[in-house]
Amino acid sequence: MNSPTGERLGFRSIPGFVKSLARRPSQMVHRVFWRSIAALTRGCLRSAAYHLNEMVGFPEQYHPLYSRGLLHFLWFLLKPIEGGLALRLRHLVARGLFARCGKGVTLRPGVSIYDGRALSIGDHVSIGNGSYIGGGPVNIGDNVRMARYVVIETFDHHFNRLDIPIRLQDGQNKPVVIEEDVWIGVRVTICPGVRIGRGSVIGAGSVVTRNIPEYSVAAGVPARVIRSRSAQQDGKSPV
Ligand SMILES: CC(C)(COP(=O)(O)OP(=O)(O)OC[C@H]1O[C@@H](n2cnc3c(N)ncnc32)[C@H](O)[C@@H]1OP(=O)(O)O)[C@@H](O)C(=O)NCCC(=O)NCCS
Repeated sequence: MNSPTGERLGFRSIPGFVKSLARRPSQMVHRVFWRSIAALTRGCLRSAAYHLNEMVGFPEQYHPLYSRGLLHFLWFLLKPIEGGLALRLRHLVARGLFARCGKGVTLRPGVSIYDGRALSIGDHVSIGNGSYIGGGPVNIGDNVRMARYVVIETFDHHFNRLDIPIRLQDGQNKPVVIEEDVWIGVRVTICPGVRIGRGSVIGAGSVVTRNIPEYSVAAGVPARVIRSRSAQQDGKSPV
C-alpha cells in the first residue's frame, strides 16, 4: 500500500497490517510491557513528589539535586522497607533531616514526619511502624519507646468565628514535649501542646489531651492517670 505521496507504508491493506501484528505477538507484548513500565514509573515519580510534599512540607525543595531534597527523596524510598540495613540508612538520613536525631534511634517503616526541622529526638528512641509526627516543635527525650501507629499532632485550627468556615480561620502549632524514658502504647494520639513527664506510660489507644505528670501510668480517652509508678516504687499503694 502506498501513501498519497507515493511512499510505501510497509503493508498492503488494513487487514494485512492486522495480520502482520498477529505474526509478531512477542513484539506487541514487549511494547505493551515497556509502555506499562514507563507509565508506572511516571505514576511512582508523581506520587513520590506528592508524598514528599505531604511528608516534609517544603515544596520549594522538591528538586532532588538540592541536598535536603535528596535526603527527602532517600527517606521516601527507604520509608516502607523493613530490615536492619534500611533501619540504619533511615537513621543516617534522619540525622540530616531532623533538627536533632540522637544515636541508636530506631525509625520503623512507615514513619511520617511533617517537618524534620521542627523535630528533635534524643538517644535510643524507637518510633513504631506507621507513626506520624506533626510539624510543630516536637521534642522527644532519650530512651522514649513509641509503639505502632502513634500520632503526635501539633496543629489546632481556630474555630471561634461562625461566619466563615473553619478552613478559612487561622491555626496554630503548639509544641509537644515527651520527656525521657516514656513508653507510649499502640495507637495513642497526643494532642497539640501536651507535655508527657519522664518515666510515664501511656496505655494503648489513649488520647492525651492534658499534661501527664512524671512517672504516671495514664490511659483512656481522654487519658487519665490510673496510677503513679513512683508510689509503686516506694512500696506505697497505687494512687
Ligand atoms: C496501661 C497498661 C500498660 C497497663 O497498665 P497497668 O498499670 O498494669 O494497668 P491495669 O492493667 O492494672 O489496669 C488499670 C485500669 O486501667 C484500665 N486500662 C488499662 N489499660 C488501658 C487502656 N489502654 N485504655 C483504657 N483503660 C485502660 C484497666 O481497664 C483498669 O481499669 P479498672 O481498674 O476499671 O479495671 C496496658 O493496659 C497497656 O495499655 N499497654 C500498652 C500495650 C502496647 O501498646 N504495647 C505496644 C508494645 S511496644
